[in-house]
Amino acid sequence: MCGITGYIGYRRASDVLLKALKKLEYRGYDSAGIAVLNNGVSGAELAVRKMKGQLSVLEAALAEGSPEGVLGIGHTRWATHGEPSDANSHPHTDISGSIAVVHNGIIENYARLKSFLRERGVVFKSETDTEVIVHLINHYYQIERHKPGDPLLRSTLQALSKLEGSYALGVIARDFPDRLIAVRKDSPLIVGLGKNENLIASDAPALLAYTREVHFLNDGEIAVLYNDHVDLYNEAGEKIIRESSHIDWDAESAEKAGYAHFMLKEIHEQPKALRDTLNPRLADAHTPHGAGELKIHFDEFNLEAASAKAKRIVIAACGTAYHAGVVGKYAFEHFARIPVEVDIASEYRYRNPVFDKDDLFIIISQSGETADTLAALRLAKERGAKVIAITNAVGSTISREADTVLYTRAGPEIAVASTKAFTTQLVCIYLLAIELGRLRGALNTVQYAAAIAELQKIPENAEFVLKSKEAVQRYADRQFNKKKVFFVGRLFDHASGMESALKLKEISYTHSESFAAGELKHGPIALVDKDTLVVSFATQEALLDKITSNIREVLSRGASSLIVTQEGEPQARLAAAAIADEIWTIPQTDAPFTPVIAVIYMQLFAYYCSVARGNDPDKPRNLAKSVTVE
Ligand code: AGP
Repeated sequence: MCGITGYIGYRRASDVLLKALKKLEYRGYDSAGIAVLNNGVSGAELAVRKMKGQLSVLEAALAEGSPEGVLGIGHTRWATHGEPSDANSHPHTDISGSIAVVHNGIIENYARLKSFLRERGVVFKSETDTEVIVHLINHYYQIERHKPGDPLLRSTLQALSKLEGSYALGVIARDFPDRLIAVRKDSPLIVGLGKNENLIASDAPALLAYTREVHFLNDGEIAVLYNDHVDLYNEAGEKIIRESSHIDWDAESAEKAGYAHFMLKEIHEQPKALRDTLNPRLADAHTPHGAGELKIHFDEFNLEAASAKAKRIVIAACGTAYHAGVVGKYAFEHFARIPVEVDIASEYRYRNPVFDKDDLFIIISQSGETADTLAALRLAKERGAKVIAITNAVGSTISREADTVLYTRAGPEIAVASTKAFTTQLVCIYLLAIELGRLRGALNTVQYAAAIAELQKIPENAEFVLKSKEAVQRYADRQFNKKKVFFVGRLFDHASGMESALKLKEISYTHSESFAAGELKHGPIALVDKDTLVVSFATQEALLDKITSNIREVLSRGASSLIVTQEGEPQARLAAAAIADEIWTIPQTDAPFTPVIAVIYMQLFAYYCSVARGNDPDKPRNLAKSVTVE
């Protein structure tokens, strides 16, 4: 929610900020703005350009003339307090226009602070919670400014001590043209370390064009960036020394590479992302059965030790990551014969869950910053559980607070709709479930080897689906105007439907839901009519007869029918039953591995429906990529 950036160095700050904001636009796109200290000279003008609308609106305005200067901050907004408007856009400035602030997060006690400041004569220009921060800094600055040392840092620290809530901040001031102050608490912020230039950004892709050396700020930490070095401080204002970290991602991975949208690019990156996530965790076992047999191994941790006493697995996540958790429930039960509880993180944190400190607790989050997921992790840790995080973001808050991290090697995921993160999360889950199955004796040697053989097919099975994209596009061009799209399936197929329905909702704005096929008759079938497309996931041979009856029921109510099934016998039987307008197939594989492939069809379908409806799939309305506030 909201992206912030900042630059100090030798380049034209307006250009750097705009470029960085383009990489952060997925975090919010209802307004954008920059503040640049003209010419980086003390007492020079603090030039602010900010406006409602997507970043392209600001870009067009800056093309007419952008402020000169080598120090600046920028923001792309996802409105929480105050509607999208020029006035509510960031940066916000104090009454004299000499301090500017960009903010990502929510200030919970802003109303109280507003009264405090109003009583001291401050007139507010916006309805945002953020504006209190800049006035508060100025309030303390007026007291501190004539004292020795760094009055801007001191006044920022004093203002922070009054704030409740979450924030990542960039602060610049007319009196200090040589520095940029950055702060984080419960909202992500990364400091990029360049040569004679330094930067801040909410997310790594915005920094990659300049550097891959970074500091991941911890909660409460403050960075003061100069053009030739960065000082780090703790909450108390004491200097701290820390080694920088290196980010593996390259700058190209955060570009569209000729695709019309990031989402389409990321869908196509799945075979590689799946290989990158899978292959390093498969090694020759050198078992009595001979070298060349594969075994799952985790460099990151010892699964045997972590799970030794576990009688149960608990999974918590949000959105797409939650759907990966639903597949996880079935997969762990299937391979490892262990009970699994899977919960939406935003529910979990409020429901006073029953804990066993030996539970194996798994948190799933692409960004590693989702507020509710982080809260579930903290709750689990407070109660003594050991937490494994599956995440894509090195250095994210969740990766730092979990006991163990299993990284999905998907590369940066920019599109709001999660695609390659989901399928790589599933690979991590399969790896854990199969290995746990071996450790618990639920899988014998033959079953273990067979499961690994199926795992290895996943990347090429994904390639198989991608080859059908023209057929998917043609079908989407016929169906994109359907008022309702319902997904039906059982078990793994139901989980595939849940994720598919979310994809369709978020980027094509079609009302879509996934129903456990057996539940149709208990209510949902009343919704089915000729304006409905029913997508049946029918990948499990053992359940074909059941799902065939369900499809007949919806057909007799006038719905259109699309079936996703497996090649071979299932495809032949469903084709013979003549119950589909269209059948898409996945290569033969065992039931647990069907969602990771079948969902790719529906990622493509949702993408093409979105485009056919004239939407921008990368920037769906009302959504932001990382939900870092409740
Ligand atoms: C998926 O397409 C969504 N954009 C959303 O549901 C997302 O999966 C959810 O917000 C969780 O994000 P996380 O994986 O970064 O925690």
